[in-house]
Amino acid sequence: MKPDRIILIGFMGSGKTTVGRALAARLGWELVDTDELVEARAGAPVARIFQDRGERAFREMEAEALASLLERTRVVIATGGGAPAQLQNQNFFSGAVAIFHLRVSLQTVRERTRGNTGRPLLGLSERELFALHKSRQPVYDGLGTAVETDGRKPEDVAEDILLLLGTQESQSRHGD
Ligand code: S3P
Repeated sequence: MKPDRIILIGFMGSGKTTVGRALAARLGWELVDTDELVEARAGAPVARIFQDRGERAFREMEAEALASLLERTRVVIATGGGAPAQLQNQNFFSGAVAIFHLRVSLQTVRERTRGNTGRPLLGLSERELFALHKSRQPVYDGLGTAVETDGRKPEDVAEDILLLLGTQESQSRHGD
């Protein structure tokens, strides 16, 4: 069955929003970025939410934003890097959806996010960031089909996803 929604997961700087935009354009679907949704609802940028209300409050807003998207179709959803690691979001990531893990090395994260002040967790020490990146990989891999992004253009990553969707679709047809 062809999915009617695609969810992109992955670490900060993996390109979820950029790839999502390319993918949505190719499909003629809408792109929803959950960080942007949280920001619009809170009327404040993510960094400020973390600073003023703490990470826990952000995670609650993030969970609400995800829940509000459960019925949406013909949509590519670029999720925040921490969303799949939250138990409360389990429902969002289960069911008949196509989930892709945009893999990214820490070195590329550093390159892509240099000078970016909008992501509070990039302020972690080198060691903490390494540990966070490492601990998230099995979570992402457990939920989504992995697609490499290091050294690749967003359009090419989007193309890979479209190819994988085609393959998955024909596999499920043959399995019927
Ligand atoms: C976070 C990733 C960010 C944003 C917040 C926390 C994380 O989203 O949700 O800063 O826990 O990894 P991006 O992955 O879109 O940068």
